[in-house]
Amino acid sequence: MHSIDELKNLKGKRILLRLDLNAPIVNGAITDPFRIDRALKSIQFLIAREARVVLVSHLSDSRGSLVPVYEYLKKKMPLTFVDDIAGVEAHQAVEALQDGEAVLLQNIRMSDDEKKNDAHFTRELASLADMYINDAFPASHRIHASIVGVAGILPAYAGFQFFDEVAGLTPALTPESPSLAIVGGAKLTTKVALIETLLKKYDRVFVGGAIANDFFKAKGYEVGMSLVSDNDTAKAMLGNSKIILPEFVTVEGPNGRRDILASEVGKNEAILDIAPASIQALQSIINASHSILWNGPMGNFEKGFTAGTDALAIAIAGSSAKSIVGGGDTLSSIQNLGLMDKFTFVSTAGGAMLDFLANGTLPGIDALEKKT
Ligand code: 3PG
Repeated sequence: MHSIDELKNLKGKRILLRLDLNAPIVNGAITDPFRIDRALKSIQFLIAREARVVLVSHLSDSRGSLVPVYEYLKKKMPLTFVDDIAGVEAHQAVEALQDGEAVLLQNIRMSDDEKKNDAHFTRELASLADMYINDAFPASHRIHASIVGVAGILPAYAGFQFFDEVAGLTPALTPESPSLAIVGGAKLTTKVALIETLLKKYDRVFVGGAIANDFFKAKGYEVGMSLVSDNDTAKAMLGNSKIILPEFVTVEGPNGRRDILASEVGKNEAILDIAPASIQALQSIINASHSILWNGPMGNFEKGFTAGTDALAIAIAGSSAKSIVGGGDTLSSIQNLGLMDKFTFVSTAGGAMLDFLANGTLPGIDALEKKT
């Protein structure tokens, strides 16, 4: 994989820089610029070398406009915006670029051809530039035109953040024993491949969040009104002695909110978080671990159940283990607690982190290595 570092004589060169500027936007305002800020290094590197930079990004919301991101970025660099992706207006905007200037194209997911990795669209996109840089690791699990297609046409390089993500996450593929993996989140189906890989590589795998509900149900516990998704997979995994489940949970129901044993949930109650006593029970394993990997929240963030995730973040941050962590809600908890620098590596990726850990690579990595 070639790196942005290797690029020389960039003056006047047109560079297609694929970024992940998929920041949360509420009522037209960016609520957390973390991802955008992480993208700045590659942009500024290219601008300082007088390249003509074409910024490409998606928003998960395929109807959402990148204008709020443009408003944020233009305060930091000479930047224009074009409400087009690979059409005439985009080509004109790129033509108009001077050395050391950048243009941001509209949300690339507005085009279905991006998602289809359509050959014609890919060629149109590639024709905007002389070379391509992927600095969008969090989107590199997608076989999309701007991730995989263009890398097959133009000379292709990895950006700074992309390299940091691969370097930061790679040690999680070969953890040092004693090792602990912690998986949370809402849907077991999205984490099955990951948990299966982790069970092969890690000494213990703690399962929290709504995913744990599937395991409780598979154990024959009453789960009441709790969210459950994939009981059969949980049943099959239960036999594995590496799996640890939270002993205590926080429920809400007719008796209000209470912390109870996971085996004592009532028919009218819903499990919404792991209880602090579960973290205390996990503390000795955390303290003894040399490597800890954590992805996914322990409670229902939408309903404000952040206490279990916060307590876990504090417990891991205080340990001497090499700790690798990622996933949107997990990240926001760590940020809010001011613990970012207490972890060995904090990934900006969600789904891409899961796929990288499950498979050891991503379509976007393979494309840069020209394996596709
Ligand atoms: C993410 O938020 O994980 C990345 O930006 C990828 O977004 P996506 O799930 O919409 O592809």
